[in-house]
Formats: sequence, structure tokens, C-alpha cells
Amino acid sequence: MEPPDPVAFVFGATGYVGQAVVEVAARTADVARVIAHARPDSPRADELTALASDRIMVDRTPLEVGSLSATLTASNPSHVFLCHGTTAHRARQEGIPAPYEAVDLGLTQLILEAVDAMATPPRIVYLSAIGASPRARGAYLSARWRAEEAVRASGLPFTICRAPLLGGPDRTESRPLETVARTVADPLLAALGAVGLTRLRDRLSSMDATEAAEGMVRSAFHYMTINRVVESDELRRVGVYERERWAPESRRDTPRH
Ligand SMILES: NC(=O)c1ccc[n+]([C@@H]2O[C@H](COP(=O)([O-])OP(=O)(O)OC[C@H]3O[C@@H](n4cnc5c(N)ncnc54)[C@H](OP(=O)(O)O)[C@@H]3O)[C@@H](O)[C@H]2O)c1
Repeated sequence: MEPPDPVAFVFGATGYVGQAVVEVAARTADVARVIAHARPDSPRADELTALASDRIMVDRTPLEVGSLSATLTASNPSHVFLCHGTTAHRARQEGIPAPYEAVDLGLTQLILEAVDAMATPPRIVYLSAIGASPRARGAYLSARWRAEEAVRASGLPFTICRAPLLGGPDRTESRPLETVARTVADPLLAALGAVGLTRLRDRLSSMDATEAAEGMVRSAFHYMTINRVVESDELRRVGVYERERWAPESRRDTPRH
């Protein structure tokens, strides 16, 4: 029996990368439908609603296990993209203590629990960050590592994408520190690349949301990236994943229940 058409469900779809994932997935011929999730009280939901089309549906299910399980079971996605996360600045505005524990890690765990109710497990495509490791210092990278571990321990097929610094002129939200970091580091890394340190340049240089989203969608539908980490240099537009190597059986397992 032919597997059903791929459906992408994108959490964090109002974000810089999440919205790009929605757009990139929707123009990918192999994806039949994209469901873009916005939390009910999202300040950026209107922007997402403007993208709705015959291929893109906006969903505003509350971030609560029971409701999410019902939505996911009904829409039966083959791929669930996790592009959510907060910043210290935004968490202060929202009054969230321990933001990375609560959002970056906690919301990941909650979504994995909701996905577990699905009869046919989707592939989890998790947007993580370079530097996530068991030895990572700092609340942010430590939470990212533990979120990665939760994805790995879920028993679901997964692809973890470790992105470098994300930004570009198309990011509407002001992030001065990230802009300065990109402005200083990118030319330096380009110079190091010119003298042969290309791996270092490709790992650490920043990328914009579209490049990250293209890397995530390409990795999501490729059999060679199942159950492993895709590092930042692999996310780039390197053209290593030719379309003809796409293997439908890599995107989901047989029914579990
Ligand atoms: N920025 C970087 O350089 C970088 C690098 C590597 C990895 N990453 C990771 O990738 C993630 C996405 O990056 P981005 O630049 O696309 O971030 P972004 O534009 O800030 O988007 C974050 C997404 O998470 C959602 N979110 C924020 N707070 C939430 C909360 N309390 N509860 C539920 N959802 C919440 C946002 O929803 P609303 O629109 O409703 O707020 C939005 O959809 C980041 O969180 C980060 O951990 C970032």
C-alpha cells in the first residue's frame, strides 16, 4: 500500500525559522499539506494567517497535551518540525522564570508526549543549536542538549538540525547582540575559509532563515539523515542531498498501535 502523502506540522511557525520552514515545505513538491501552529496568544499569529492557502493551514491548538494529541491524531502528519524557543528578553516580557527549561526543553517534552498518542509515528525534525552537548555550559545550551536527548529517547524517528547563529536583513525583530556577532564573526570566518579552514567557516558562519529552513526540509525527507544530528555545515546549500535519493520509506515507520 502506498504511504499517505507527506504532511508537515510545524511548531513555532510564527518564528523567524518556523515561518520559513512553512514556506519552504509548502513549495516542496513532495509535501501535500503544511499545518502551521501558532500558540493561541501568539503576538505574531496574524502574519502567519496571511500565509494560509490551499497548502498551508494555520492551527491554534492550545499547548496542552490532550488538545495537541487530538489535533495531531486528526491531521496525522508524517513530519513534525519543532522550531519553537524563547529568548531571555521575550521570557522577561512574558514573566516566564527559567525560560529555557520551560519553553526550549519543556515545550519539546510536551509535544513529544502529544505525538506519542499517534498511531503512526511521524519523523521529528528538531531545530537545535551548535554547541548543544552534554558538557555545554549555560542554561540555553544545556536545555537544548536535554531537549535533543528527549527527542532521541522518544523512540520516534528523528533528525536534529544544529543551526549556527540565525539572522539576516529579513529578521524583523531587533536583535542587536546577534547582529553585532554576525557582523564581526562572518568576515573573520570568511577570511579563515579563504586560507583553507573551510570546515570551520561552514560550521560557524551565520545563516538566514530560508537557508536553515531549506536545510531542515531537505534533511527531513532524506534517508541518510534519519536518527542523527545534522550539523550546521550540512544544513547549508551544499547540494549534497539530490532529490533522486529521496526515499519515502525513511520518513515514517509502520504503525505501532
Ligand atoms: N537565533 C539563533 O541564532 C539560533 C541559533 C540556533 C538555534 N536557535 C534556536 O531556534 C529557535 C528558533 O529560532 P528563531 O530565530 O526562529 O526564533 P523566534 O523567531 O524567536 O521564534 C521562536 C518561536 O517560538 C515560539 N515561542 C516563543 N516563546 C514561546 C512560549 N513561551 N511558548 C510557546 N512558544 C513560544 C514563538 O512563538 P510566538 O511568535 O507566539 O512568540 C515562535 O514561534 C530558537 O528559539 C533557538 O533556540 C536559534
